[in-house]
Amino acid sequence: MRKFIKKILPKPIVSVAKVLVTRTKLAFLTLTQKSRFLSSFYYLVSNGFSSEHQAVIKGRKAYYDSLKDIGETCALLRRNTHRLEKGLIMRPRRRVFAEGFIQETVDCYKDAIKASELAQTEKKWATDVLDEYFKIIGSTTLIEYARKVYLEARQQHPESFETAAEFPSEGAAYKPYLYEKLPSVDISFDELKQLFIRRRSVRWYQDKQVPLNLVQQAANIASFAPSACNRQPYRFLFCNEKEKAITIAKCAGGTKGFADNLPAMIVIVGDLSAYPYEKDRHLIYIDGSLAAMQLMLALETLGLSTCSINWPEVDANERKIRKVINLKDYERVIMLLAVGYADPSGGIPYSQKKLNQLILEDISQ
Ligand SMILES: Cc1cc2nc3c(=O)[nH]c(=O)nc-3n(C[C@H](O)[C@H](O)[C@H](O)COP(=O)(O)O)c2cc1C
Repeated sequence: MRKFIKKILPKPIVSVAKVLVTRTKLAFLTLTQKSRFLSSFYYLVSNGFSSEHQAVIKGRKAYYDSLKDIGETCALLRRNTHRLEKGLIMRPRRRVFAEGFIQETVDCYKDAIKASELAQTEKKWATDVLDEYFKIIGSTTLIEYARKVYLEARQQHPESFETAAEFPSEGAAYKPYLYEKLPSVDISFDELKQLFIRRRSVRWYQDKQVPLNLVQQAANIASFAPSACNRQPYRFLFCNEKEKAITIAKCAGGTKGFADNLPAMIVIVGDLSAYPYEKDRHLIYIDGSLAAMQLMLALETLGLSTCSINWPEVDANERKIRKVINLKDYERVIMLLAVGYADPSGGIPYSQKKLNQLILEDISQ
C-alpha cells in the first residue's frame, strides 16, 4: 500500500510527506520516552515489540506446562541442580543451605526421574548432586521432609546412570570437583590469537558439502559455553541441503548478493520456555550468542568457515522462516550462521577493530 501511494504521488509531495512523518515520529518519541506509562502507551500503538511480548508469554506458559510433562530437558531441575552445586562449593560451606528451594527441587526430581524422554545425563547430574547434598547437609524439618521425598523417588528409580564424564569427576560422578583437577591447556595466547584472526566472516564458499558429523563435533564443544544457571536455552538447527540452506539464508535481509553460494546454514534458536519470569527473557540471546561464538571457533579448527547473519525482528521474515523450519511458538531465532569450506579466492572485508581504549576502561580507581 505504502509503495503504491509513493508511486502515484508526485515526488515533491512524497518528500514533504516523508519529512512530516519523521517529525511526527520524533515528536511522539520525545513525548513517550518521558515515562514508563507513556512508553507502554507507545507500544500499544506501535507493534515493534508485539511478537516478542507474545513469545515471552508463550514461553512462560510452556515453562509451567513442561513441569507437568517433562521432556528431553528440564529447565527447573537444571537451574536448581546448579544452585545446589553452588551451595556445595561455597566457602565456608553453610551447615544448612538451599532450604528455600530444596522441596521444589525434589518434587521436580520425583517427576523428572520417571520421565522417559529426559536425558540420562540430566538425570545423572541431578541424582549425583542431590546424593551429595543430602550426604552433607545439616538437619532441619524442611530438609528431612525433602530427604524423604528424594529417597522415596530413588527407591522407585534406583538405577545408576552409565554416562561418560566430560569434566573431571570423582568416581565418574557429576558433582563439584576441585579446580586443580582441570586439565592444563597447551594453547598459548599467540595460538589463540591466530585462531581469532583466522576466524573471519566468510561469504564466498566452495561448492562442497558440509559434513554433519563435523558440525555435531563442533556443537558438542560449543555447548561447554557458559549459560545462566547452566540452562542452555538454545538449539542449533543445521541444514546442508543446499537449496533449503539458500531458502533459509534468503529469509534474512543481510545475505543479499551472496545467499546463492551458501552451502549450509545453522539457525541458532533460543528457547523462552526455560524461564518462568520475563526478567530473564534476554538470556536466550546472551547464552545463545556465547555458544554461537564457541561454535564458530570450533568449526574454524575443523577447517570450516562461518558468517553470522543478523536476525532483526521483522514479522515477514519470521513468517518466511517458520514455513521452512519447525519452530515452537516460544522459540526465537537468535541469528543465522552460514557455514562451509571457504573459497580461497573469495574476498574478506578488512573490518578494522576498535582500539583497545575504546573497548576496555580501567575503572579500578
Ligand atoms: C549478530 C551479527 C549479525 C551479522 N549479520 C550479518 C549479515 O546479516 N550479513 C553479513 O554479511 N554479515 C553479517 N555479520 C558479520 C559482520 O558483518 C562481521 O562480523 C563484522 O563486519 C566483522 O567482521 P569479521 O567477522 O570478519 O571480524 C553479522 C555479525 C554478527 C555478529
